[in-house]
Amino acid sequence: MAMEYDDAAADRLEAVYLGPDVVAQREDTLRRIAVMRGEHVLDIGSGPGFLAAAIAEQTGPDGEVIGVDVSQQMVDRANQRRECDWLRYRCADATALPLEDSHFDVAVSTQVAEYVPDIVSFLSEFHRVLKPGGRGLILATDWGGVCWHSENPDRMKKVLAAFAPHCADSELPRTLNKRLRQAGLVVEDVSYFPIVNVDRYEGCYSEMIVPFITAYVQGQGSVDEDDLRAWGEEQAALDARGEHFFATGRFSFAVRKPDRANKAFRL
Ligand SMILES: C[S@@+](CC[C@H](N)C(=O)[O-])C[C@H]1O[C@@H](n2cnc3c(N)ncnc32)[C@H](O)[C@@H]1O
Repeated sequence: MAMEYDDAAADRLEAVYLGPDVVAQREDTLRRIAVMRGEHVLDIGSGPGFLAAAIAEQTGPDGEVIGVDVSQQMVDRANQRRECDWLRYRCADATALPLEDSHFDVAVSTQVAEYVPDIVSFLSEFHRVLKPGGRGLILATDWGGVCWHSENPDRMKKVLAAFAPHCADSELPRTLNKRLRQAGLVVEDVSYFPIVNVDRYEGCYSEMIVPFITAYVQGQGSVDEDDLRAWGEEQAALDARGEHFFATGRFSFAVRKPDRANKAFRL
């Protein structure tokens, strides 16, 4: 799937990623990968660069952080807010990384794998660039698991079904454990980070993704314009009555590349 962002789409993405729900999710990711000073870290699909910048604070100047993203627009935006020279961004496809083998202590990729059609090459590259014994984290959403109240559930189903193809695999987490093992990675932990919005305050995730979904579904043509508008307006109306309910979550797969000693042992 081609990922090109015009300014409006890039602004929408950044706004969602600066909202409190995604900030809390990013803090959870940082805690899980527990980067140490001096480590070499790769962020695959680094987008606006918020995670990579936070990781660079943890590695300090003795370390190195590389963010790669297939969108030049995202790389340019991330570069504009870059504050240290041990953090660098490159425009590259996650399925063919222009990076050497076995270089990184840590590889991380949040909300990217589900957008990559060739997940086998994505995971193979993820494995290749990690040092033996290196650790990684892949975080993905299962869009089939969204729980979103509407008094018109058929319309809600129709809108979410029309939105599903915005990902290459909108239910990737269900098969990711097996795919990671097939790529030669050891899955050490799988966790779930919930996002639950019961009131629709400004900046909450359920409010921020309505324009995203609307923009994508409009282009699909499978939901009538009036239905789509009514779908968005209903959420404000439900909230005014104290009846808003939205829940989703991110699955994080913590992995390790077996070190040489383990490999020899298995042979
Ligand atoms: C939903 S955003 C996530 C951004 C960032 N990882 C975060 O969590 O803040 C997905 C990002 O993945 C990038 N992306 C999608 N497919 C990619 C690919 N094949 N290779 C590299 N980056 C990719 C997009 O350009 C976009 O910046």
